[in-house]
Amino acid sequence: MGFQNRDIISIRDFSKQELLHIIDVAAKIQADRSKYSGLLKGRIMASLFFEPSTRTRLSFEAAMHRLGGSVIGFSEPDNTSISKGETTHDTIRIVDGYCDVIVMRHPEAGSVSKAAEAASNPIINAGDGTNEHPTQTFVDLFTIMQTKGTLQGLNIGFLGDLKFGRTVHSLTHALSHFSPKFYFISPPSLKLPEKYIKEMESSGISYVEEEELTKVSRELDILYVTRIQKERFLNSEDYAKVKGFYKLDTSFLRHAKPEMKILHPLPRVDEINPGLDEARQSIYFQQAHNGIPVRMALLGLIIGGL
Ligand code: CP
Repeated sequence: MGFQNRDIISIRDFSKQELLHIIDVAAKIQADRSKYSGLLKGRIMASLFFEPSTRTRLSFEAAMHRLGGSVIGFSEPDNTSISKGETTHDTIRIVDGYCDVIVMRHPEAGSVSKAAEAASNPIINAGDGTNEHPTQTFVDLFTIMQTKGTLQGLNIGFLGDLKFGRTVHSLTHALSHFSPKFYFISPPSLKLPEKYIKEMESSGISYVEEEELTKVSRELDILYVTRIQKERFLNSEDYAKVKGFYKLDTSFLRHAKPEMKILHPLPRVDEINPGLDEARQSIYFQQAHNGIPVRMALLGLIIGGL
């Protein structure tokens, strides 16, 4: 499998075998992280965040440090020469000369793919607008495999903002390799966009669309909850109509299989009550912490010769 110097732009660029290989490498790293502590000694990762982030940026940066490498970058583009009018293209071309790999988040769909044209080093999409978030998907797959022991044949519910939620757009594609049944649970205005539905229909994936969670919750092996993404709405009235549409608390567990697991890419707002955090079904903090071995695996595969 060829991972060396490869860009990670879209989950659609990865085969089923490659997805399983990444999970496998991440599991090996998690089992004995110290074995990899010098793998990227002397290498530099540029962390370019044009949009806010906690988990993705900090877990990538921690992963690079855990591999013995160094990190440069910014999380406030206003403090760079972009504020003087420099283009993203020129910014990438310059930073490309200072590092060995670039991790980039940007509010515009397709921006990371465009940036890759200006870079000779590999570039990793850390989220491009409402489009994709492929490295979150590797984290999600790893977490599902870790907790369920398989990715095959699961009933998976996606709840919340399926329109703007880029993690959903990437994860549904990746899981389509594993004969799932999907349950898309959202307010009518936040349904999964038609282009993803068509993609699933052409792959023969079975799915249900529903507004009310408890109508389907007993079927689910995994419930993937998402935040309603206020920042993506064009006006505050549209957001106000769906704000707080779903609010899960411990009473929800009565409507679910005992072994069902709840994931969430986080951050959350009010869709999961903190009272649910200690339930054995809730694995979203474990999921966030899995960002370290998974992103160590990605960096090790791309620039570390794993
Ligand atoms: N899951 C995720 O992308 O979180 P951040 O926005 O905090 O990086």
